[in-house]
Amino acid sequence: MESKDIQSYLTTKLFGRNLIYLSTVDSTNQKAKLLIKEGVVSGTVVIANEQTAGRGRLNRNWLSEPGKNLLFSVIIKPTIANEQIGVISLYAGLAVAKAIEEALQIKPVCKWPNDLLLGEKKFCGILSEAIFEDNELVGVVVGIGINVNQLNFPEEIREKATSLQRELGKEINRFELLNFVLNKMEYYYNKIQKGSINLIIKEWVHYTKMFGQNISVKQNREEINGIALRLAEDGGLIISTAKGELKVLAGDVTICS
Ligand code: BTN
Repeated sequence: MESKDIQSYLTTKLFGRNLIYLSTVDSTNQKAKLLIKEGVVSGTVVIANEQTAGRGRLNRNWLSEPGKNLLFSVIIKPTIANEQIGVISLYAGLAVAKAIEEALQIKPVCKWPNDLLLGEKKFCGILSEAIFEDNELVGVVVGIGINVNQLNFPEEIREKATSLQRELGKEINRFELLNFVLNKMEYYYNKIQKGSINLIIKEWVHYTKMFGQNISVKQNREEINGIALRLAEDGGLIISTAKGELKVLAGDVTICS
């Protein structure tokens, strides 16, 4: 497999026009961060068949069987205020959810900030990493892992993980799906560049079930309990707690009711 084989599936204008395929890499996010420093163009995609040190949020690992799933990072250079960086994670989740709905006629659920679930189980994780130089944003690496055709999961994630093939009962062409995802990412990226950042928040809300529910958010050793109310303009989650309304910008959410 070569970069051009994957590119032959793509109908995007910008995203993936520069595409780097690696059969094995430590982490596509790590590779993409190095490329940002070298000044690659916005829309560059780094995609791997296998990661030896795939990373998740909160310093976790991302485990994925080689050759079955989608493991890629997209480099973008959005012109947004530093305070709105949080919306980029939501942006990627929204784009993947829309792409899956369009390609496969199933509607995933978005769990704040950026997990995608099918029937309570996670099939997609997103790790966005913003790169600053002298306090200026030089780019964001949006790392996406989608469990596409993996059928068996290691013990430690078996209860919580699923894949598209497991849920749909049929094999899915990874690169056709990649094309749907990159097209949606390009579409919403253009919206962001035109200043319509609120659109991301407005549309993301259609894919979640958490509002009005009792939730618990774990941040390091702290735990916040309350009712999920809405999203803030910067992508933060507003919770009604015993101490009043609070906004959280990161953490792990559990829905309690
Ligand atoms: C999470 O849910 O914790 C985020 C998981 C993100 C995994 C993807 S796979 C491609 C990219 N490279 C990485 O090392 N991580 C992201």
